[in-house]
Amino acid sequence: MSDDMKRLAAERAVADVTSGMRLGIGTGSTAEHFVRALGVRVRGGLDVIGVPTSERTRALAQEEGIPLTTLEETPALDLTVDGADEIDNALRLIKGGGGAHLREKIVAAASTRMIVIADGSKCVQTLGKFPLPIEVVPFGLGATRNALEKLFVSLGLGGELTMRGGEQHPFVTDGGHYILDAHLTAIPDAETLARALVAVPGVVEHGLFIGLADKAYVAGTDGVFEMTA
Ligand code: A5P
Repeated sequence: MSDDMKRLAAERAVADVTSGMRLGIGTGSTAEHFVRALGVRVRGGLDVIGVPTSERTRALAQEEGIPLTTLEETPALDLTVDGADEIDNALRLIKGGGGAHLREKIVAAASTRMIVIADGSKCVQTLGKFPLPIEVVPFGLGATRNALEKLFVSLGLGGELTMRGGEQHPFVTDGGHYILDAHLTAIPDAETLARALVAVPGVVEHGLFIGLADKAYVAGTDGVFEMTA
């Protein structure tokens, strides 16, 4: 059911793609529906070029015959379509459940527009129930973790940090970094937290996407509805 909804939202976004567009192509199970539906249109003659946000998406896009480029060759994009782990009413997002939020944020920021695709379970009043992914460099991990814990206390945010994949076999991102997931329960002031996180040495990127999404297509049992910022 939820997978059908993800597909419906993805198909709605594919309908917004027109020939000549330079696309950012997201990561995750919802974005995979987008890639497959885009592949159908490309094989039907749609002329687009895309920058994938992960190696996983790159492989699928290549299978689908979607022409790919890089931000070195094509530094400005027209539209990014990507999933999300949480979406609030102001179209602030938590992303990174699949570990791709660093490239996803770079690609979204290089795009004129970003459309989020999701099923209704992703919509929340307050961000933070989904653990916030924080990508960190392996060097100095203990110090970075301490600094993050102190930061959360100073902002009145409880919650623990867990190493994605476990301490023994950490998950490694496409960029060669680790991910600490912050179990904060609620993030009442996402802007303040986002600013503070990037100031912590060792933090490469976090999963708060603020001011990046222009529109979301959210699929529920009554069909796809559109949210705008
Ligand atoms: C990938 O790192 C994430 O940002 C995904 O876009 C997000 O986790 C949504 O994934 P699903 O579409 O699989 O729920």
